[in-house]
Amino acid sequence: MPCVKTRASAPGKIILFGEHAVVSGTPAIGSAVGLRARVTVEDLPGRLEIALRDMGLTVTGFSVGPNGEVISLGSSEEAARAARYVAGVVRELDARDIRVIVESEIPVASGLGSSAAIVVAALAAVSSHMGLDLSVNQVAAQAHGIEKMVQQGLGSPMDTALSAFGGYQMVCGGASPLELPAIEMVVGCTSRPHDTRSEVARVQELRSAYPEVIGPIFQAVGEITRRAIPCIRDGSLMELGTLMNMNQGLLESIGAGTRELSELIYAARGAGGALGAKLTGAGGGGCMIALPEPGRQRDVLIALAQSRGSGFPVKTGAEGLIVETGIR
Ligand code: MEV
Repeated sequence: MPCVKTRASAPGKIILFGEHAVVSGTPAIGSAVGLRARVTVEDLPGRLEIALRDMGLTVTGFSVGPNGEVISLGSSEEAARAARYVAGVVRELDARDIRVIVESEIPVASGLGSSAAIVVAALAAVSSHMGLDLSVNQVAAQAHGIEKMVQQGLGSPMDTALSAFGGYQMVCGGASPLELPAIEMVVGCTSRPHDTRSEVARVQELRSAYPEVIGPIFQAVGEITRRAIPCIRDGSLMELGTLMNMNQGLLESIGAGTRELSELIYAARGAGGALGAKLTGAGGGGCMIALPEPGRQRDVLIALAQSRGSGFPVKTGAEGLIVETGIR
């Protein structure tokens, strides 16, 4: 009898406005984008296996520690580290006798929400394969808990909410959906990975050292974020670009920029003719986003390539979690 599989996919994300300031309570806006993580689950009687197809890594015969760490004698350290988000899902659901296959188009350690998309897709695929009927709300909440556990306490609900629900989300404490139209943007990645945890810690230390300086900067970021909402709703792209550039200036002031990110940002605004460009996520490496003039996505992509960045076009407001059951 052919084995019946369950598959789920979830999107990555970009933060449009408000990163870092959101950690201190001002609003941030993020959007799901078309890059997706896909997780397929099939029966594997008597065994438990995680296969990370893009990395060519497999983890088998393992147990999972209290923070989702993978304890395995037979697997490399690299495989065990890469598999820990899926292992967190396996532990949460007490799953067994399955193979979990992960494939992802989302670059890792780049601030594009790859770990959240994998956790959301894995949680939905494994729970559905086990016959558990989790709502999207439950998937989003549990996935956020698992991501936080693996990252040891860090992580706003932005990434898991966007991966589960798609569209746009505003985060201010919790996450809530925003009904806004899609816009065409470009993502450009530097070759330097970023580390959200250490960037957030560094910025929060700066805030403690200079509260009178950083407090008003975060207030200004919050105001930029609030003003961006009607611009996206009404298609006021010129003003939206100006707000992105202002947000970037403030991110520079708290040390989140890097030379590589600036090169891509100025290439997009200059030769690419972008209306606005800023880093996305925690900074210190990772990716930037640019808002092209309508019909000029290609010009921005060429400008990024000329500055040694890898760029790809995205549309905001992409679809959230999709689950397919009974695949043969
Ligand atoms: C990271 O993608 C965004 C930050 O604001 C951290 C967070 O919101 O958890 C830097």
